[in-house]
Amino acid sequence: MSTPAWLQSPLLKAAGRQPVGQTPIWLMRQAGRYLPEYRELRRTTTFLELCKNPALAAEVMLGTVARLGVDAAIIFSDLLLILEPMGIELEFSAGEGPVLANPIRTAADIDRLLELESIEPLGFVIETVRKTRAGLPESLPLIGFAGAPFTLAAYAIEGGSSRDYRLVKSLMYNDTGAWDALMGRLARAATLLLNAQIDAGVQVVQLFDSWAGCLGVDDYRRYVLPHVRSVIEALRPGVPVIHFATGNPALLPLLGEAFGKRGRDAVVGVDWRIRLDDAWRTIGYDKAIQGNLDPAVLLASPVEIRRRVKDLLHQAGGRPGHIFNLGHGVLPQTPVENVIALVEAVHELSSRP
Ligand code: CP3
Repeated sequence: MSTPAWLQSPLLKAAGRQPVGQTPIWLMRQAGRYLPEYRELRRTTTFLELCKNPALAAEVMLGTVARLGVDAAIIFSDLLLILEPMGIELEFSAGEGPVLANPIRTAADIDRLLELESIEPLGFVIETVRKTRAGLPESLPLIGFAGAPFTLAAYAIEGGSSRDYRLVKSLMYNDTGAWDALMGRLARAATLLLNAQIDAGVQVVQLFDSWAGCLGVDDYRRYVLPHVRSVIEALRPGVPVIHFATGNPALLPLLGEAFGKRGRDAVVGVDWRIRLDDAWRTIGYDKAIQGNLDPAVLLASPVEIRRRVKDLLHQAGGRPGHIFNLGHGVLPQTPVENVIALVEAVHELSSRP
């Protein structure tokens, strides 16, 4: 059997800190509401219907990747879907984002969160992996993903977005035993989902801990780190893992620590609140880095975008192991031309003969 072309892709090489001809770029939320064709599709299909229709979900991402010229696809899905087969009712309401009808509020509630025993109820995610992989050029890697245990717990407990994370933190502080049981259950579910995505054909996985930044360093270490580490250590070997969180650059060394013994192909995803050069020094050059343009820069002119790309590439210093991305998802107000200008600028300004 010949080796698949994606092994030579800039994304996989960068994840393994090998030199590349051009810095690879993909964007969180690269398929989403900023695209007119996505908004058009959403006039007739709800977001959940879209996620549960693998043919359509694959088509959305394949069209986006071709249009933007990015170096990877990510499966079109959502990190909250995993909570449904665990017994949480999920809805996305226009304007408000996710709403969970029966959140977990007490230690007693944790018992009714079901163990995800098999991947079968999430079979549509796995089918999305297969269909997206089948439609992609072999040279482009496909990224799978799951929510990290803390972010899943935060949604399950708060019932939606939150400003102060009061409910999740009070459960965490008041009943450590119940907290660890909840996090263990979510960690096992995320591991099952990611390994099933790997078996179905993704080349890379990203763990999103979008809400972990609300925690201080000591609380992250005590209440979150052991559980993320258990996920990462249980993932199939040889597949690069991107560990991403937002909001608190002081957590970066711990995001790196979560890789434990898994030294190779470790990538830390960084938001824009810290300079990329400072972030990389903090994480250590034995790991790759992904990031970290402020998504709001895409609301500026292509000239300014280009200037900011140049600056970020300069901070990366030509060192192997940089995957270009935003520090968080593309904003719905972003002009599509600016996203395309970003991708072109990264490729052009990072070209090495
Ligand atoms: O293009 C991609 O990146 C792939 C698909 C993807 C989505 N969600 C699609 C989506 C991915 C990787 C996610 C992950 C996700 N989902 C995260 C982690 C990333 C992050 O933003 O921090 C989170 C926190 C969620 C939960 C979630 N899903 C929220 C809070 C919202 C509402 C906010 C919003 O932007 O509308 C969603 C909805 C969602 N997920 C949309 C998309 C395209 C918009 C749905 C729509 O109205 O069409």
